[in-house]
Amino acid sequence: MNQKIEQIKEEIKCFHMKTYNDLETFRIKFLGKKKGIVTILFKELKKISIHKRRIYGKIINELKKEAQNKIKVFQSKNKIQNDKILKFDPTLPGKSIEIGSRHPLSILKNRIRDLLINIGFTYVDGPEIEDDWHNFTALNIPIFHPSRDMQDTFFLCKNPDILLRTHTSSVQIRYMKKHNPPFRVLSIGKVYRNESISSRSNFMFHQAEGFYIDKKVSFYDLKQTIHYLITSLFEKVKIRFRPSYFPFTEPSAEVDIYCNNGWLEIMGCGMIDPQVLENVNIDSEIYSGFAFGLGIERIALIIYQMKDIRIYFDNDIRFLKQFKSEF
Ligand code: DAH
Repeated sequence: MNQKIEQIKEEIKCFHMKTYNDLETFRIKFLGKKKGIVTILFKELKKISIHKRRIYGKIINELKKEAQNKIKVFQSKNKIQNDKILKFDPTLPGKSIEIGSRHPLSILKNRIRDLLINIGFTYVDGPEIEDDWHNFTALNIPIFHPSRDMQDTFFLCKNPDILLRTHTSSVQIRYMKKHNPPFRVLSIGKVYRNESISSRSNFMFHQAEGFYIDKKVSFYDLKQTIHYLITSLFEKVKIRFRPSYFPFTEPSAEVDIYCNNGWLEIMGCGMIDPQVLENVNIDSEIYSGFAFGLGIERIALIIYQMKDIRIYFDNDIRFLKQFKSEF
């Protein structure tokens, strides 16, 4: 008898139920009114002595409880699932996925790119790792030229000919070497200088470089292009061209805009020096051109009315989230 009970106990334990049909099979098999295994055991009790009947009665009762318990557990588990299904309301709006926002510098980059593409510029990318010739020498900045000091450079220790570009003007050289004029080109990207981090400077920032080469390009064309770009970016703004010096343009100028009761320098520009054209085998007797380079962070400070460029590199989600509506 003992062995038989142990066996039944094991069978109850191992009975696998997945569906309500399985549950019904289980119930009939063990607790069915006529042929249930446990029910039959109760019936058999009548055949044994009173003394044993008491002992086995208890044991069989426990067996019955185990079977009933298994049924209860199955029912409550499935009730939770049923409730979940019932609670699901397909008419409610779906759970939305939070969409990120574009970085303010990217928004500005796209805006400048679109404005210049509108007037015939082609967008190109250039490498951030440059060689000395493209970054300096071909732009009329030979070794030991004092203007190299203005762009404190990250050189590669093992090969000082390789460096992180200090400006996007190197793209001028790369493009002019490969293409025949006329062309209008724009490039925007990161540049690197060994500068301490402050509210106005960082070791990495962004520049937009534009240049146009054709027959008879004049300073007037340069002024018109810059004027169009700046007045499209800022609603109402005063602009001034200030004479300046860059080794790769002649004449050269800096463009300032009036903001917060003072003039703020935002870009360098000028007519491309004929020697630079000759360096890339473009006949400077036939062709002339202009170029300009502007600092994206500077423009971003004014447009978004910020005081410190570090805000653009902190990646503070509370700041970045505010640009959701822009594209
Ligand atoms: N490359 C210059 C700089 O980083 C900016 C610049 C000045 C770019 C004059 C030009 C230019 O194309 O014509 O400081």
